[in-house]
Amino acid sequence: MTNIVTLDEFIITRQKDFAYASGELSGLLRDIGLAAKIVSREVNKAGLADIVGRAKNENASGDQVQKLDVMADELLIACLRNSGECCGIASEENDNYVPIKSKSSTNADYIVIFDPLDGSSNIDVNVSIGTIFAIYHRVTDRDETVSDEDFLQKGVEQVAAGYVFFGSSTMLVYTTGRGVNGFTLDPSIGEFCLSHSDITIPDDGNIYSCNQGGFRKWEPAIQDYTEECLNKSFKMRYIGSMVADVHRTLIKGGIFFYPASSSSPNGKLRLLYECNPLAFIMEQAGGKASDGRQRILDIEPTELHQRTPIFIGSPKMVERVEELVASYELEETFA
Ligand code: AHG
Ligand code: MN
Ligand code: MN
Repeated sequence: MTNIVTLDEFIITRQKDFAYASGELSGLLRDIGLAAKIVSREVNKAGLADIVGRAKNENASGDQVQKLDVMADELLIACLRNSGECCGIASEENDNYVPIKSKSSTNADYIVIFDPLDGSSNIDVNVSIGTIFAIYHRVTDRDETVSDEDFLQKGVEQVAAGYVFFGSSTMLVYTTGRGVNGFTLDPSIGEFCLSHSDITIPDDGNIYSCNQGGFRKWEPAIQDYTEECLNKSFKMRYIGSMVADVHRTLIKGGIFFYPASSSSPNGKLRLLYECNPLAFIMEQAGGKASDGRQRILDIEPTELHQRTPIFIGSPKMVERVEELVASYELEETFA
């Protein structure tokens, strides 16, 4: 029998790392793992069931919502509501945060922010998609209902973050601030099994990942960086699901970026449920995540669905972007 370590076993073993851990966080991670298995089941038969295609509504970001977005959102909320460890959630698919009021969760200590289904535009063409989550301690009193300040916390305050990647296999990758570990779902036993211990990103790389269609609308420093990648004959890889592009970057090295543009001055990707959790994971794996000028995890949030430009991946590549941005700013200062 090979030495299989399931997600549950791993979480319990690692719980000993946390002197203060009362098991709540472990319970939360297990509940998210359960939701991931159910979403994986639904994703894997999406084409057969009536869950591909468009839902009727638009979300707070103005994105056309797919049926699978709604299903994943409702499923995650249900699992978190039952967990009793979570006192509030915020998600891409809900305009505002949702207090979780249940007997068992009144004095729960954690809030969860998530993108229930990332890469929705890829659902109908059977290309990889994902789920992204971030976990924080609440900051208001436990006997009060959660409020804005519980959700508008800087990324550095995250207690845990992770993603589920529905690709050729289903993987769950997470960190609690002590490194990054990846688990692959074995459908035959219904368990996530440890498959990628202590993931570390290469310091440098030769893969760049961006929607180069936006090139003409980017600031000169980012155009210069893209041309540097082209001149060095780097490989260009772009799946169009942030989870998939960042996961490849984490494993192989390289850089993923979604910059600001003349039409989207803050870029497209959302700070709270896409950039912060993936930045936490990337930094824990030895990588970097920046908006070109500052660390993603240091950005002070002002609203739930705010967007930020992001450059994330091998530290040497992210630092090169920041150098170019700084050199243009210097030029402007003395122009
Ligand atoms: P979501 O499906 O949660 O709205 O996220 C989609 C995001 C992200 O996954 C991806 O990196 C980006 O949109 C792709 O945007 P473009 O289609 O503009 O390249
Ligand atoms: Mn997304
Ligand atoms: Mn989404």
